[in-house]
Amino acid sequence: MGTDSAVPVPITVAYGDGIGPEIMEATLRVITAGGAELEVETIRIGQAIYEAGNSAGIEPEAWESLRRTKVFLKAPITTPEGGGFKSLNVTVRKAFGLFANVRPNPSYAPFVATKHPGMDVVIVRENEEDLYGGIEHRQTEDVTQCLKLITRPGTERLVRYAFEYARRYRRSKVSCFTKDNIMKMTDGLFHRVFDEVAADYPDLQSEHWIVDIGTARLADTPEAFDVIVLPNLYGDIVSDVAAEISGSVGLGGSANIGSEVAMFEAIHGSAPPLAGKNVANPSGLLLGAVQMLVHIGQGEAAERVHNAWLRTIEDGVHTEDIYDPTVSTARVGTAEFADAVIDRLGERPQKLRAASYPSTPERITVAVSTRVPARKELVGIDVFVDSREPVEVIAKALEGVAAPLELVMITNRGQKVYPGGIPETFCVDHWRCRFQAREPNGPVAYGDVVALLGRLGDVGFPFIKTEGLFTFDGIPGFSLGQGQ
Ligand code: IPM
Ligand code: MG
Repeated sequence: MGTDSAVPVPITVAYGDGIGPEIMEATLRVITAGGAELEVETIRIGQAIYEAGNSAGIEPEAWESLRRTKVFLKAPITTPEGGGFKSLNVTVRKAFGLFANVRPNPSYAPFVATKHPGMDVVIVRENEEDLYGGIEHRQTEDVTQCLKLITRPGTERLVRYAFEYARRYRRSKVSCFTKDNIMKMTDGLFHRVFDEVAADYPDLQSEHWIVDIGTARLADTPEAFDVIVLPNLYGDIVSDVAAEISGSVGLGGSANIGSEVAMFEAIHGSAPPLAGKNVANPSGLLLGAVQMLVHIGQGEAAERVHNAWLRTIEDGVHTEDIYDPTVSTARVGTAEFADAVIDRLGERPQKLRAASYPSTPERITVAVSTRVPARKELVGIDVFVDSREPVEVIAKALEGVAAPLELVMITNRGQKVYPGGIPETFCVDHWRCRFQAREPNGPVAYGDVVALLGRLGDVGFPFIKTEGLFTFDGIPGFSLGQGQ
């Protein structure tokens, strides 16, 4: 067996839940036969750990292994339903700063059925921020909220990674999807940073799509896309769409890349109903493992495994999920599929494009630019209050205690209802009340805000939460009310 490195590379492996153990076993067997030189440390994560009372689904020793090896091959796990259990996937991604989630979606036509034989899209998904912060609160009887955080450095390193990836793999275009016609500050920042970074890559085309129509277009004409970079939640959804239309979510591998640590996995879940039946397709995890071998510099083994896998698919040796009597020649189980790939090590696909990888570790490094911080000034406060009173009653009480600030407006679910609301607007028990200085965007003292909050409680409108209104070098850092 040829090897790329004299010394085995330590990696951490978790067998996961549901179909996890079977597909991990198959994957490790194939890559080892393919010449991967690995020193495997196994950790236990997932369901059993959650059920033993560890709400994160991972034990302290497991963290130590991950910090030592910095490379994690992870089978899917089951997060128990119900409150209190945090997704381990998200915890690992965030704890280690695995900011880029890279998900290639080539079609394998005509060997795997797809309506899009020309498709070859790579999704580069933001992996730590956005609505995945897990910062959620119930604030009133009627209302819950989830905080959406988009940061400049988080976005910049992701977008730079996407452009560097495009360059490295000779791709021609990077598309960005956001909803910045609605979320002008958060998605607006993501789009703006995308435009700034794109200017540093004049050799690559760049474009922006609003996520709804962009996704519709992707589903209809994926050949029009190459690399797509997008915030976390849109990336979660769009990457499943892309994988499914390319052939099957069962074939998608994924690399979660950080500056130190990286995690490799399948994009699909643990599929409990299929567990223990030797029917699951190990391809998603196997292709994730190929990405891992490239990452650690075992490109020769990666190439051998990937090409044998392509050949197996071409030869029509298929697991149930992609079995199609018109192209398949054998319907095999998980273990037999792994055997078929092993039998083909050293062979290359004859019709599909063969894989080729460098033998040095693939590390795309990105730097985040330094900026002179803007001058930040407090110019008001949004106070959220819980009330069943009509808006006129709330407004009257708040105006009575506002001085030296002024009540500028009240919104309900973002819609301005005071001054000048209309009775048709549906309201819940959650009012955002904006107070500012008398002169537009004039400075406000923190002490005045604190005193105001006390007076609101005194008149029967205790606050739920506040949001500071700031200007940055004079530019307002807050949105207007809908209709303001
Ligand atoms: C994925 C999965 C995860 C996600 C879940 C399991 C937390 O859907 O990797 O796409 O939402 O990111
Ligand atoms: Mg997902």
